[in-house]
Amino acid sequence: MKILDMRSDTTTHPTPQMRRAIFEAEVGDDGHSEDPTVNRLQQMAADMLGKEAGLLTPSGSMGNLLGVMSNSSPGDEVLLGSEAHILWFEMGGATTVAGTLLRALPNDEQGNIAVADLEAALRQNHTHSRNISMLCLENTHNRCGGAAISAENTSALADVAHKNNLKVHIDGARLFNAAVVQGVPANELTKSVDTVSICLSKGLGAPVGSVLCGSKETIEKARRWRKMIGGGMRQAGVIAAAGIVALETMIERLADDHKNAKRLAQGLSQIKGVTIDLNKVKTNMLRFAVADSALAGLLNKQLLEKGIKFGPGGNSFRVVTHWMIDDADVDYILEHTASIMKELS
Ligand SMILES: Cc1ncc(COP(=O)(O)O)c(C=O)c1O
Repeated sequence: MKILDMRSDTTTHPTPQMRRAIFEAEVGDDGHSEDPTVNRLQQMAADMLGKEAGLLTPSGSMGNLLGVMSNSSPGDEVLLGSEAHILWFEMGGATTVAGTLLRALPNDEQGNIAVADLEAALRQNHTHSRNISMLCLENTHNRCGGAAISAENTSALADVAHKNNLKVHIDGARLFNAAVVQGVPANELTKSVDTVSICLSKGLGAPVGSVLCGSKETIEKARRWRKMIGGGMRQAGVIAAAGIVALETMIERLADDHKNAKRLAQGLSQIKGVTIDLNKVKTNMLRFAVADSALAGLLNKQLLEKGIKFGPGGNSFRVVTHWMIDDADVDYILEHTASIMKELS
């Protein structure tokens, strides 16, 4: 039985082309910046995002942490959205490792932060208060259902931040989903910010890796911090090789994931007992609910028997589409979800 693992796009396996590239990768000691494949990936990512330089990290969390460490000093305050991945799911690294204080500004349902809220927070940046050194944004926004943030909203916030001497970082774990759904090049979404971390291991399907991009000076700083926190690697070309294939072959097809998420959402909305807000389905994520957690538990159990893995939580499920889920899988999922729900009602 084919397992349809839709708990996240992090469950994706490397494509056959990635596996071949890993096998054939030319490598060197990245501790001396001598791995040609790593160097190529880093420059490629930097070029795509309109930045001078890039740095391969083992994870998106490390990319974000290095973004914070390179744009702030211990004791500084870092502003970020109340639903930010950095705040919720990165083990407090920005506080425990980077020594910064995190202050959350409200994220609206679309993942945006209001310029007025940023301005209000900055008015408190005076000689008696701690230094506010940076603003972290997120695009697409995970806890806001994969919402894509526009270049205009990003620039509006970045302009205010820069006028107040703050640096701006984007957690771009799924930045290419945001670019594809808005029909803009990725560098349009990053042109107004200082650093951005992209993940190769989410919807792009690579087995591991993220790239932090920014100015040469900032990335040099990040390289030293990366060494300090144990993220320095050696023949990492085997990782980078899959990342290059990810950037070359897996971006445009994200549109298929978005289309499948919409079709799945529409189909689910037709099933009696399912509640879903179709307006919230923007990229490759959706969330739907059933009456209560007991019913959700039963549904989950029976879906698992059919090889369908959604992300359960209380009376709702998170579902993420990715390259290992095709049109026929969407039909299969809808058919079985409908028949199980009918049986359970
Ligand atoms: C928005 C966002 N940022 C950062 C990360 C962290 O990536 P990693 O799991 O590679 O540390 C994730 C992971 O799912 C994410 O969704």
